[in-house]
Amino acid sequence: MEQADIGVVGLAVMGQNLALNIRDHGYRVAVYNRTTARTESFAASPEANHGILPCFSIDGLALALKRPRKILLMVSAGKAVDDTLGLLVPHLEAGDIIIDGGNSHPDDTRRRSTALSAQKLLFVGCGISGGEQGARHGPSLMPGGNPDAWPHIRPIFEAIAARVDGQPCCRWIGPQGAGHFVKMVHNGIEYGDLQLIGETYHLLRSGLHMSPEQLSGLFHRWNRGPLNSYLIDITARILSARDDDGTPLIDKILDTAGQKGTGRWTAIEALKLNTPLTTINEAVFARNLSARREERLLAAQQPAAPLRPWPKADEETLQFAHDALYASKIISYAQGFMLLKDAASAYDWDLDYRGIALIWRGGCIIRSIFLDDIAAAFDADPELQSLLLAPFFAGQLRRAETGWRQALTLGIGLGIPLPAMAASLTFFDGYRCARLPANLLQAQRDFFGAHTYERTDRPRGTFFHTDWDPPD
Ligand code: ATR
Repeated sequence: MEQADIGVVGLAVMGQNLALNIRDHGYRVAVYNRTTARTESFAASPEANHGILPCFSIDGLALALKRPRKILLMVSAGKAVDDTLGLLVPHLEAGDIIIDGGNSHPDDTRRRSTALSAQKLLFVGCGISGGEQGARHGPSLMPGGNPDAWPHIRPIFEAIAARVDGQPCCRWIGPQGAGHFVKMVHNGIEYGDLQLIGETYHLLRSGLHMSPEQLSGLFHRWNRGPLNSYLIDITARILSARDDDGTPLIDKILDTAGQKGTGRWTAIEALKLNTPLTTINEAVFARNLSARREERLLAAQQPAAPLRPWPKADEETLQFAHDALYASKIISYAQGFMLLKDAASAYDWDLDYRGIALIWRGGCIIRSIFLDDIAAAFDADPELQSLLLAPFFAGQLRRAETGWRQALTLGIGLGIPLPAMAASLTFFDGYRCARLPANLLQAQRDFFGAHTYERTDRPRGTFFHTDWDPPD
C-alpha cells in the first residue's frame, strides 16, 4: 500500500481538521488515536473518504509512514504528550520528526527537544493558532525546535497555513521551545485584547448606558478604522445577537471568565524574565477577579461613596473610548514584543519580530491590520528596541493620549474598573519618565539593608553606601 506523507496522532477536532487540511493539499495522511473508536468514526466520516489512512496501533502507524517519518501530535498538552512520546519513540529511527502541535509549555518543549535529540530524533514544538476553523482552512503556524526538521516539514506547513498577501502565515521561529513561546505570547496578547475590549464595552454600557445594539453599531464603525480586527468584528456581532425572547443575549451571559492557562503562563514568564508586562498581567488578574462572583456580589451590597453623574454618550466621549482602546492596545503589543525580546536574549534565540507580526495576520484570533503596522516598524528598523520608540507608534500615541486620559478619568469617576487600560497608561507614563522615584527606593533599601546605590554624578557601576541617621 502507498505510504503516507505524514501521521497525525490525536483525533479530537483539531487533529481531525489538520489531517483534512493536510490531505486537501495533496498529502496522504496516516491517522491514529489512543481510543480506537475515534479513529474508526473519523475514518468513516464522508470528509475522510480519501487520502486518510486509519491506523489502529502505534507500530501500524510507524509502518504506514514514508521515511523520515513525520508525525504531528495533537494530543492534550502535558502528560498526554509525554505518554504518547513514550509509546512512539521505540518505533522510530534516527532522523524521524515529531511535531507537537498542542499548546505545550515552552519549558516542556525545551526538555523534550533536548531528550529526543539525544536519541537522534528531530523534535518540533509548533504553536498552532486559529482554533477549529483555522486548523481546517488555514491556521497560523509557529514551528520551533530542531532546525534540521524544517526543510522536511516546510512544504506541508506552508501549504496548510493561512495566507495573507500571498504569504503563508508560517515561519520557522527558532530552536527549542521558541515556537511554543511565541504561541504562548500570542495567547497572552489575545488575553490583553479581549480585556481591553471588555473594559471599553463596560465603560460605554454601564457608564454611558449605551444599548448593546448601539454598541454593536459603534464596534462595526470602529472596525473600519485602525482597530480593524477579527476581535472587534466578532464583538460587534455578539452585541447584536438576541436571545429567543428578543432581548440582547449578552445581558444573559454570566460574567465569570474561564481560562485554560496560557495567559497565566505568559504572566509568569514575564515575572521570571523581569519584563514589565503590565497590561496582559492585569488581563489575567481581571479574569481571576471575575471568577470570584459570590464575593463580588457580597461586596456590591456594601455602601459606596457617591459617584459622578453620568455624562452623555456624545461623539467626543466615544472618541475618547476609541483612543483609549487603541492606545492601550499599542502598549499591550509593545509589552508582548518586549517579552519576546527578553526571552530571545535569555535563551539565545534570534527571533524575527517582523516575521512574527506577519504570521499573526492570518488564521489567528489576534489577526488585525494593526499587525501590518508592527511589521512595518520592524521593517524600518530591525534593531528596534521597543515599538514605543518607533516613530509611527509614538505618533499614534501622541494623538490618542488626551482621549486615553479622558476615558480613564471618566471610568474612575464612574467607578468602572478599567485595570488593563489604566495599567497601559501608567506604563506609558512610566516608560517615558526620565526620573522615576526609584532613587528614593534605592535610598530606602540602602537605609534598612545596606543594599547600596549608584549616583547620578558618578559613573554607572560604582556603588555607594551611606550611614543613614537611624530612627530614635
Ligand atoms: P482537549 O485537549 O481539548 O481536552 P480532548 O478531546 O480531551 O482534547 O483530547 C485530545 C486528544 O488527546 C484526544 O485524541 C485524546 O485521545 P482519546 O480520544 O483517546 O481520549 C488524546 N489524549 C489525551 N490524553 C492522552 C494520553 N494520555 N495518551 C494518548 N492520547 C491522549
